[in-house]
Amino acid sequence: MAKPGPREAFSEVHDLAPDEFLAQVQSFEFWFHSVEGYLAGTNYGHRVDAVEAHLAERDRERLVTVLCNYCVGETAALEGASGLVAIAPNRHAKVFLSTQVVDEGRHLEVLLHRMSDLGVLDPEAEVERRASPSIRAFKSRLLALVASKDWEAALFAQNVILEAMEFTVFQTHAKTADPITAEVLGGIVKDERRHIGFGENELGRRLRESPHRRARIGEVKRDLDALVLETFEETLRDIGLPAAERPDLGRSYLAAVARLGLP
Ligand SMILES: [Fe+2]
Ligand SMILES: [Fe+2]
Repeated sequence: MAKPGPREAFSEVHDLAPDEFLAQVQSFEFWFHSVEGYLAGTNYGHRVDAVEAHLAERDRERLVTVLCNYCVGETAALEGASGLVAIAPNRHAKVFLSTQVVDEGRHLEVLLHRMSDLGVLDPEAEVERRASPSIRAFKSRLLALVASKDWEAALFAQNVILEAMEFTVFQTHAKTADPITAEVLGGIVKDERRHIGFGENELGRRLRESPHRRARIGEVKRDLDALVLETFEETLRDIGLPAAERPDLGRSYLAAVARLGLP
């Protein structure tokens, strides 16, 4: 049977054996074929002919606030991933992270552009004005871990915690968002899925080789959990998700980190 091409393999990214993952996913070759499948012909992450829906002023305001928080998360991911390139212990990981840096830069760009589309004159200033204290605090903690050159801890905070948080929130938000925002988020989610795959694969292997590192990862998780759950709460309230559905989202984030065998 023919080996699946990068695009087919992409859909199975979580099912690949660790060696196959290294050989296929951690390359620009794989990255290019993956993103081509969902970005070709788009304009800032959405179809060129997508039509802007009418948003009530209150809904527009809430959406802008949520996008400001997403911009802080994506800036954290962009700065975090680029810092991780320098401390990655092998060249395969450096190549993968360089594709991630490109993805995160694109995410930030399309979110800032979405705000401009919504009539925000100075998106940068709006992010400064509106972003929540919890996502700002998470960004500082993540970048401090990267600066401390603690590879496993920083990779865990970036490619498992932050990515799982973004994946879960964006996927949920896309279900109820206006069509253009939903398309933009849908494209981002496809990238975040690949980033989590890398984080789980790399960390899983490191933890199997050196089980003593598990305690340090558990420590980072306990340190960041409260901030992550607070960020969830704020964002879900702003996107108008019914309160009854919020605990499920917290659980799905915890399930993502539990796949690494952490309590
Ligand atoms: Fe991202
Ligand atoms: Fe990401």
